Amino acid sequence: MNMYYFALKCIFTMIVLVTPSSTETLKPNFTQLNCIVLDKSFLAFEVCSLDSKSVVNIRLKLLKRPLDNIMLQGMIMKYTNGSYQNYYFNNLYDICKIMRSKRNVFVQFVYQLAMPYTNFNHTCPFNEPYMFVKNFPLDDIALHPLRMLTKGKYALIGTWMSNRIKRMNIELYLTMQN
Ligand SMILES: *[C@@H]1O[C@H](CO)[C@@H](O)[C@H](O)[C@H]1NC(C)=O
Ligand SMILES: *[C@@H]1O[C@H](CO)[C@@H](O)[C@H](O)[C@H]1NC(C)=O
Ligand SMILES: *[C@@H]1O[C@H](CO)[C@@H](O)[C@H](O)[C@H]1NC(C)=O
Repeated sequence: MNMYYFALKCIFTMIVLVTPSSTETLKPNFTQLNCIVLDKSFLAFEVCSLDSKSVVNIRLKLLKRPLDNIMLQGMIMKYTNGSYQNYYFNNLYDICKIMRSKRNVFVQFVYQLAMPYTNFNHTCPFNEPYMFVKNFPLDDIALHPLRMLTKGKYALIGTWMSNRIKRMNIELYLTMQN
């Protein structure tokens, strides 16, 4: 599903905008992807995978449709002193509004990138029975923005809401390394 994709894009956008650039050349090693249902009456994951080539597949079944008024809370946590702690930001995004907007050049750019990999590719509402992200290559697409992160272990946490209710968390764990 593709909300995940959009979550990442928003997160990466913020990393680019907010993070001071690093002089080291680091690479992300994506270690884990978790898809967590917060509202079992609303959705169910059928696929949630990150393979050894950093390709992501997510497929979720929408049990209540349509999906609308989508908000995303994006957080970057860094592993510090034995636990993941809030890093650069913790922001709330109005996804439907972002997708409607044609003004933000970066959003448009991201949107074009996302198209081939997802059916989260139109404006709200979503009335499809399934939402998916298919064969999304994190290494190719995520590399540049993530380079802004300093060495260490990170968790990118996206909490997805619709109609103000938390429905799911998508968590991506990665290590920035040489
Ligand atoms: C990435 O992390 C995994 C799991 O910790 C590890 O097995 C793998 O060797 C790492 N890959 C690289 C290129 O360091
Ligand atoms: C790590 O934890 C120790 C013990 O609680 C504390 O003294 C130290 O200041 C912490 N370091 C950082 C960077 O938060
Ligand atoms: C959105 O994705 C679906 C499924 O891949 C595809 O059939 C449809 O043509 C796409 N729509 C747009 C506007 O790209």
